[in-house]
Amino acid sequence: MESKVAPRQPLDLSPLQRILEERYRPQDYQEAQELIVGACQEAQRLFGWVPPEAAQLIAGHLGVTINRVYGLLTFYADFRTQPPGRHYLWLCYGAACYVAGARRLIDLLRDEYDMDEKGDLPDGTLSINIFNGCLGVCDLAPVGQLDHHEYVGHLTVEELRTLIERLRSGEEAEGTHGGSH
Ligand code: FES
Repeated sequence: MESKVAPRQPLDLSPLQRILEERYRPQDYQEAQELIVGACQEAQRLFGWVPPEAAQLIAGHLGVTINRVYGLLTFYADFRTQPPGRHYLWLCYGAACYVAGARRLIDLLRDEYDMDEKGDLPDGTLSINIFNGCLGVCDLAPVGQLDHHEYVGHLTVEELRTLIERLRSGEEAEGTHGGSH
């Protein structure tokens, strides 16, 4: 599969720097250790992931080693050390969606699009969150929610493939947005 990851813009670390200076002021080494996770959560809230330069800033600010920061980043599954995709899909895996064929959609993403264990497609187009709850629109099952607003319902394998290709070609046409269900 073609892999085309755009180069990353330099990151403005100043919002993180401000938060660290205001709220993360450990009195001793023990407290610094305890603040690492919170500081990483701040970075993830700001950037959508914890970029290496943010991890480095946190380590330097708290006076802990970068290895310690990465140890915690890799220990907690919620942290991302890779940037999220440019689009985001909640894919419902609740009971109604399961019965209606959500499993086939997940198989497609894994087998044909090489979705990794974090739910990312390798070309950076899409991050998928397989949601083990119910999105509350079971009449659309199997259903996903794209970019936090657009429901894509009654999804078949073919339609999901078309959606991914639409996202890819939309990006090539500089952000053209397709229709919704
Ligand atoms: S189970 Fe998927 S929307 Fe309800």
